[in-house]
Order: sequence, then C-alpha cells, then structure tokens
Amino acid sequence: MSDISILTAHAEQAEAEITRLEDEIAILQDPQKALAAGVISPELEKLRSENAKLRYQINHLKRNIDGEKTKGRQNMVSLIGIIDDVFGLAIRKTFPDLENPPVAIQKGKHTMKNDYQCNAAMNISQMLKSQGVNTNPRQIADAIMQNMPETQYFEKLEVCGPGFINIYLNKSYVAEQMSELLNNGVRPPFIRVKKHPIVDFSSPNIAKEMHVGHLRSTIIGESICRLLEWVGHDVLRLNHLGDWGTQFGMLIAHLQDKFPNYATVSPPIGDLQKFYKESKVRFDNDEEFKKRAYEAVVKLQNYEDSHIKAWNLICDVSRIEFKKVYDRLGVTIVERGESYYHKMMPNIVQELDDKNLTLVEDGRKIMFAPGCSVPLTLVKSDGGFTYDTSDMAAIKNRLFDENGDWLIYVVDAGQGTHFDILYSAAQKTGWYNPNLKRVEHVGFGVVLGEDNVRIL
Ligand code: ARG
Repeated sequence: MSDISILTAHAEQAEAEITRLEDEIAILQDPQKALAAGVISPELEKLRSENAKLRYQINHLKRNIDGEKTKGRQNMVSLIGIIDDVFGLAIRKTFPDLENPPVAIQKGKHTMKNDYQCNAAMNISQMLKSQGVNTNPRQIADAIMQNMPETQYFEKLEVCGPGFINIYLNKSYVAEQMSELLNNGVRPPFIRVKKHPIVDFSSPNIAKEMHVGHLRSTIIGESICRLLEWVGHDVLRLNHLGDWGTQFGMLIAHLQDKFPNYATVSPPIGDLQKFYKESKVRFDNDEEFKKRAYEAVVKLQNYEDSHIKAWNLICDVSRIEFKKVYDRLGVTIVERGESYYHKMMPNIVQELDDKNLTLVEDGRKIMFAPGCSVPLTLVKSDGGFTYDTSDMAAIKNRLFDENGDWLIYVVDAGQGTHFDILYSAAQKTGWYNPNLKRVEHVGFGVVLGEDNVRIL
C-alpha cells in the first residue's frame, strides 16, 4: 500500500540528500577548494552520477505523490481493503514461509469500541501447529505488530485477549474520506491490477424454453458484469448456449420430414417447443426415426452442409426468442455455445490421455478429479462428446486463448458438483492454479419444475 505520508517522508529525505550533495559538488567544482580537499576527478564523477540517480528517484517519488493525490479524487478508498493490505503486509513479513497466511479482518465488537479487529493470530497458530511448531497466538500477534508499517490510517492498534489485534481508525483520516464521499459521491475503489474477468451467464438451451434459472442467471450475471466494469475491469460476457448434442439429431430428422425444402424455404417453426415435443415423441416410439436421428447427429458432427443449415435454422428460432429477453434487460452477451468448442474437444481428450488422466469404463472415457467421487465423462461409448467435454475445452480456452484471469460461472446451485469437479480437473491438468487466477461458480438456488424435479 503506497501511502502519501511514507512517500512524502522519502521525498523529503531524498531532497535533503540532494541539497547535501549539491553543496558538496559546489565545493568540488571549485578547483581551489577541490584541490584543498585533495579530491581527484573519478570521485567527483561518482558523486555526479549518484546525484543524477537521486534526482531521478525524487522525480519518481513526486510523480507517485501526484498520482496518489489525483487517485484520491477519482476513486473512493476501500477501508477494509486498506486494512487488509496493511495487515497482509505485516503478516507476510512476519511469516515469509507460510503459504497464503490468513489476514482475517473483521468488524470490531461493540463492547471493545474498536472499529475493526484482526483475528489472524489464532489461525496462524493453528497453521504452525499443524507443521509441528507450537506458538501462542498472543506472541504471534505481538510479532505481527512489530512488522506493522507506519501509516496514517490508524489511531491505535493493540493486542488483546488471546491474540486479537484491535484496530482503531484515525478519525481525521475517516472524516477526510467522508467529506470526499459527500462532495464527490460514490466512486469505484482504486484497482491496482485491471483484471480480465470472463463471465459465463444466461446460457439457455436451444429448442428448450429459457426457464427461470436462465433468467436469474441472466440478471445476476449481467449485474456482476456491470459492477466489474464500473470498478474498471475488462469484462467478457459469454453465453454458453446448449446448442450442440444428440437432441439435434431428432430435431433435424423431424425438420427433414416436415419441411423437406427447408434449405430454400424458411420453415414455420416459430413454436420450437412444440416442434421439439413432436420430434421427441417420434424418437421414443419410432425405431426407424430414431435410427435416422442418430445418423443426423453424425452428419451434423461431420459438418455436412445440409445438416449445418438445418441446425442453424433451428438455432435461429431460439436466438430470436432469447434476444427478446436480452433486449428488454439491456444485456449484450457474446454467444459462444457448446458448438464453439466442438473442434477443440479431440485435442482436449488427447491432452488428457497424454497426461495419463483418463480411463475407460464401460466403453466411456472418464476422468476422476482429486477430491471428487463422480468422474467427468469425456467421451461417450458412441464416441460423442458431452457437456463435461465442452466445459473442459471452454475452461482451457478461457484461461489460455482468452487470457482470462477471473472466470465466473453464474449457474444454478444444482450444478455445484459439476463445477467442483471441473475446477478440480482443470487444476489437476495443470491449466488452473488458484494462487494465480480465480475461477468460481456463482450459484443461486436450484430450479425445480412443477413436479419438484430439477429442470435443465
Ligand atoms: N446450458 C446449461 C444449462 O441450461 C448451462 C450452462 C452453464 N455454463 C457452463 N459453462 N456449463 O444447464
């Protein structure tokens, strides 16, 4: 945390040093005095270069100070963020070998009249204990206090009880921030690192209704994106449409039967739900139709022109319906459905094979992820890929090709296990390191149909 008072002190120190050096140089530049002092020119040169360095340093510090000042005007400070930064600094300095030590800042308890408190000492003591080091939390808190940087934010910090550190804010600092707030209104906090979050939301399925779960995902997802953009991040909104898979076989076969000239005359399939149900009835009752539906899937997956045309027609009908909702909510989202990742999937499976992460069970190729009892199904026994394969391809694409450093999936909580497995598998494969990037599922309840069964 750069702090104006620290920077100012540095600047003053450097100024004083420069003045001293300038005096010295003045003496040295006077040949008489220099001679009297018995100084030879290489040393003068050295001083000159030191002086130049100091000048550079002081300009740099001045620029930082100016930056801090304007930053104050444009951004609002996050008090909790500042406390977290300062304590984080002290804690990491005290325990350089602890990986991700907790900072554990909480609002203060009213009885203590403290504004905030840091409870990290208790957690750190537990962490050390598990490594066979016995220390009491109070000593830990004292040690953290020793490494606390000098700042303008606190009136008082004190260790109390078993090892809490009570935090009392500097009132004039808080008052300053309050008047900033009153004068300038709510502004985004300053972000040190601009992130590239990729938010997967909405993601309905073609030929099925966009149900309340997709609607909630759309609203929550869009809100998250707007908030992240307001703060200053560079957000990519992605619609992971369910636009690929075996259901397209029966839809295409049914389209071919009902509207054989679909390639030239646009078929009236506005009511896609009805169309879907009709084809499903045929699929379940007519063996001949079922066989054709399977053949149609294979042709679609081989990108045969006529089948791609039929697939696009069907997707377009759904797109028109989805767009009505997006327009009404003011949502602009990039469509990147499961089909987008289809061509990447063979390579993904190959990579997992090469890393010895897959196994074949009952003709299916699966992958177990650490800590998960249910595997991902990567290749079905008929050779087709799945929802899991598309998500594996998508996560890699988002982390590497899109350079996302914060992936957010806004999907109902019913898919929580799916995402746990996915994130664990991505770690195992070496694509995702939680210390470097952030990948998370934002769940929001389970969507049940009228029969109380989860709907997809
Ligand atoms: N289409 C899916 C469903 O309706 C949601 C997809 C969510 N995103 C993802 N990357 N899996 O359940």
